[in-house]
Amino acid sequence: MIRKKPKENNQEQEEEKINKKPKITKARGMKDVLTEEYVLRDNFIKKAKAIAEFYGFKPIQTPHIEKVELFTSALGEATDIVEKQMYGLKIRGKNKLVLRPEGTAPVVRAYVENGMHTKPQPVMLFYTGSFFRHEKPQKGRSREFQQLGFEILGTDDTINDALIIKTLSAILEEAAGLKISLYLNSMGCQECRPKYKKELKSYYSKKTRNLCKNCIRRLKVNPLRLLDCKEEKCEKIKEDAPQIINFLCSDCTKHLKELLEILDASDISYYLDHHLVRGLDYYSQTVFEFFVEEKNKENEAPKKTLALGGGGRYNSLAEMITGRDIPAIGAALGVDRIVKLITKKKKTKKIPKVFFIQLGSEAKRKSLKILEALRKSKILTKHSLTKNSLKSQLKIASKLEAPYALIFGQKEALEDNIIVRNMETASQEIIPTEKLIDYLKKKL
Ligand code: HAM
Repeated sequence: MIRKKPKENNQEQEEEKINKKPKITKARGMKDVLTEEYVLRDNFIKKAKAIAEFYGFKPIQTPHIEKVELFTSALGEATDIVEKQMYGLKIRGKNKLVLRPEGTAPVVRAYVENGMHTKPQPVMLFYTGSFFRHEKPQKGRSREFQQLGFEILGTDDTINDALIIKTLSAILEEAAGLKISLYLNSMGCQECRPKYKKELKSYYSKKTRNLCKNCIRRLKVNPLRLLDCKEEKCEKIKEDAPQIINFLCSDCTKHLKELLEILDASDISYYLDHHLVRGLDYYSQTVFEFFVEEKNKENEAPKKTLALGGGGRYNSLAEMITGRDIPAIGAALGVDRIVKLITKKKKTKKIPKVFFIQLGSEAKRKSLKILEALRKSKILTKHSLTKNSLKSQLKIASKLEAPYALIFGQKEALEDNIIVRNMETASQEIIPTEKLIDYLKKKL
């Protein structure tokens, strides 16, 4: 005779078996996007794309994997990304491949490789997808993140700098519903920037005793990056550091002045920040970053938190990668950071118009037909087809705050009727199933 073990013992054994199995979790710095966030993301991206398309951007998709030289030649050897953040792939063969850490260099490569430079200029492109940087994971910073990027290639006309800024601010304000602040600077060009770099180096060389270890290294390899340090003591030193505005050549001054005039005429407000530099070396002239607007004292620039997006002009990047002289401007938004703020702002709950309840095998069999009619009529419906009791399904309906429950029991299924229950008053009406949609359309 087989003796059944008590249920409790079975459960304990089951737990023990599970606990013995080594846990396979996601890799550090990665994340799963679950349904609620996925829907918010998807909505935001759809709205953002509509704005981008209005301004003339066309979609492009480049590979997740590129040759390492694309980034080492484009982003600068002494940038954080190239020095320590790229994910290299171990594979056989000559080429060293990496997961793309950003989207601008790939778009420039694709633009030339696919002959877009021979087409009428400028070429306006947008893209979205995952990018990978081996950074220390922290708030708002992960190792795989999604960007929404915009590039205008083949023109140095300042109106395009403003167009990129306008597109991003419209997306942040309208598609994401955020209040934002824009910080702006000019990084000069190959002619005027070296003079500024020299001055900066000389200023910081006198302060080495108070700099962090990283900045002492930056002083040697890439002095502009000194302005990007977030250590408190280095930020203090930055306050009196020379400003690039005093070193700009006449072309760069003219470009900045023109841009500010266009932004003023377009009612786009901005803060000039003459210490703003970007983490990538390919920029020249215009650079900018968007932040969420933080409340602050009147007339004081709001405190910068995490950048929601940023970009700038990169007139020499195409030459560095392809040898061709192609002026361009672009920017990218950090989708993860934006979606987090949207989620925080409105914990969205889509309230269904009706909740469909089925009871008994005959009703279950005919359920899909009714659900399909509701879907085709665009009546927002929720259901729980795997549940079998009236009580549990009514409980879900009231939790979801559906104003009506549709109760389809065995009797109703046989008679081709359905009960419409007003969830507030608990009053019920029996309606022939073929008249249900018309009935609901009048009620809702
Ligand atoms: P970026 O400033 O490196 O620029 O990135 C743009 C945005 O992506 C950032 O402002 C931030 O919101 C988001 N982001 C960057 N790294 C992370 C991370 N580890 N975790 C979460 N979000 C992140 C670029 O990538 C340039 N390609 C932009 C550009 C386009 N410039 C010209 N054209």
